[in-house]
Amino acid sequence: MQEIGREILIVGAGVIGLSIARELSRRGIKRITIIDRGPAGHEATFAAGGMLAVQAETDEAGDFFELCSASRDRYPQFAAELGDETGIDIGLDQAGTLYLAFTGNDSREIDHRYNWQKNAGLNVERLSASETRKLEPFVSPDVREGLIFPDDWQVENRKLAAALLKFVALNGIELIEGTECRRLIVKNGRVIAAETSSGKVFAQQTIIAAGAWTSMIEADPVRVPEIRPIRGQIVGFQTAKRFFSHVIYSPRGYLIPRADGRILAGATVEDVGFENLMTPAGIEYVRRNAFEIAPSISGLKIAEEISGLRPKAADALPVIGGFPHVENLIVASGHYRNGILLAPITADAVADIVVGNRVSSLIRSFGVDRTSLSG
Ligand code: GLY
Repeated sequence: MQEIGREILIVGAGVIGLSIARELSRRGIKRITIIDRGPAGHEATFAAGGMLAVQAETDEAGDFFELCSASRDRYPQFAAELGDETGIDIGLDQAGTLYLAFTGNDSREIDHRYNWQKNAGLNVERLSASETRKLEPFVSPDVREGLIFPDDWQVENRKLAAALLKFVALNGIELIEGTECRRLIVKNGRVIAAETSSGKVFAQQTIIAAGAWTSMIEADPVRVPEIRPIRGQIVGFQTAKRFFSHVIYSPRGYLIPRADGRILAGATVEDVGFENLMTPAGIEYVRRNAFEIAPSISGLKIAEEISGLRPKAADALPVIGGFPHVENLIVASGHYRNGILLAPITADAVADIVVGNRVSSLIRSFGVDRTSLSG
């Protein structure tokens, strides 16, 4: 590999690494290289559901909720700019999300969400069973009640990855696929090179955005935060016409209706190491929870079955920021269930550190030195 003077090396070409590369390029950084152990934009970015579901995926107010909300709020502009930059429409769908109750426990969960979200001044409304079915006629007649989150949206994550990759190609960002970063060589408080499966890579600043593979990178004496892979299995159904207009959650699963007629149903949450595969039990679990929401989809043809590995830190929160004793190393990982949602804010925050030498208040709780990471 050539020893050129790169300004930035990003390890990981998933949605986080690609979004960071784009934002740094937009802020004037010229010599950016991204390396990935596999093809870019695969793994969790490809297997994701693309839900921008702040109110469905968080269950209390606080710093994580603020981070998710800020990123969701950036999506309309992020989508529009990416469209202008690349000609690719990333399919931002702002129809909103339903959260449904089928049991007494589910209704208590709905009460809890409604109360804290109303108290926090959020956009949420209660729906009776009949109002829910009027909105989405294919929802099960067993539904007891629901909530609607008009500000929880979805995006077509594979189109997002395609747009980011096109941006990379159009803007002279170097992308090296099939290359694993094994070790960062740290001397005198600086990363001086990355040892990869294709040789050493030199850069002034290194950013680890390697998702579930983050902890495989050695950086002695730096302790890279432990990130575990958490498998999610998703089943996609094919329909000729769109059955649903909203993303629909229950406390056990979700349905994501795509514009092309696919319905993605998810997902398992499994701590099984790097076994990234579908299992009969996983498929059965996802199908059962999907059919609870809408029994009428049980006759549909399965279009795809896909699994991915979510990157989870010990406290299940993202890890974004620099390292106290290494001046040119940043991590952006641990996005767990919310990598697509958090991509724009993560890219902004990392670019603020690199270009502006400024740590956004939004990421202050998510640094590498927080105690809850030692888990
Ligand atoms: N954000 C949904 C999931 O990770 O399954």
